[in-house]
Amino acid sequence: MKQIQRLSELRRETAAFRMAGEKIALVPTMGNLHPGHLRLVSEARRLAERVVVTVFVNPTQFGPGEDYASYPRTPEADIAALTQAGADLLFIPEVHEVYPHGLGSLTWVEVPGLSEELCGAFRPGHFRGVATVVLKLFNMVTADIAIFGEKDYQQLTIIRRMVADLNLPLTIHGVPTVRESDGLAMSSRNAYLNATERKSAAFLYATLKSSVKALMSGNRLIMEIEASASSALEAQGFKVDYVAVRRSSDLAPPHPEDDASALIILVAARLGKTRLIDNLRLSGEI
Ligand code: PAJ
Repeated sequence: MKQIQRLSELRRETAAFRMAGEKIALVPTMGNLHPGHLRLVSEARRLAERVVVTVFVNPTQFGPGEDYASYPRTPEADIAALTQAGADLLFIPEVHEVYPHGLGSLTWVEVPGLSEELCGAFRPGHFRGVATVVLKLFNMVTADIAIFGEKDYQQLTIIRRMVADLNLPLTIHGVPTVRESDGLAMSSRNAYLNATERKSAAFLYATLKSSVKALMSGNRLIMEIEASASSALEAQGFKVDYVAVRRSSDLAPPHPEDDASALIILVAARLGKTRLIDNLRLSGEI
């Protein structure tokens, strides 16, 4: 696996792939890779001849007071894991390579509406930063396919929308959430949890599962289900940002006539200083 820091070199490498008629799959990450990320890499392997992984902790998607400075950076371990996983290229740029004119006055990509809801309501500007860096990465890598996790379902939905709205010439592929044995969705931020919090964290997925069961059993009082999930989490020591049932296709509020299988339940809640997100589709794994 080649490691690349400069955009000029990345462009040389990907141009050679394209000249050879090889499809390129991109897996964008912020590093500190875990088996969830590596599942994305193996999907990429399956879908294209060439796999490019990016590791970039993107400053524009962190708000003031968020964990940009302390976000775990583990390049050596990431390189070893990606070599093992069979990635062809790792693009691991410095901030100035991605933002050559600094962070002061940028050209932004905004996906309106959805970016201000759910996590967007608690992290103003976050999805603008995500959409902007993801479009930049698409343009830098010239990927045919880009792979994202359903773990960040709102992010995935916003990126799909951006691709459609801007007629971008690539396909987005979503991958189901990879979980620990107790159900906790794998995340770089799980490392922030202390031992007690780590035990409680499994309750997040358990709560999603019981909410899904309630919804599937025909009990469609959605607001009641959201409220009872929220109070169950608060009783376990979580501070809940939201529990929301939405349509999985576009995250719009559900219509009474929607089939239960068209729905998804999403949650964001804090345990101590750690903010956890998760979701479960009603058509899924239960
Ligand atoms: P990061 O949190 O590093 O996640 C990179 C990719 O891995 C995302 O598509 C995310 O949904 C996926 N992922 C994370 N945990 C997962 C899990 N347990 N199972 C399956 N997939 C998982 O998301 C970002 O970085 C950034 O916002 C980024 C898109 C790279 C833009 O900066």
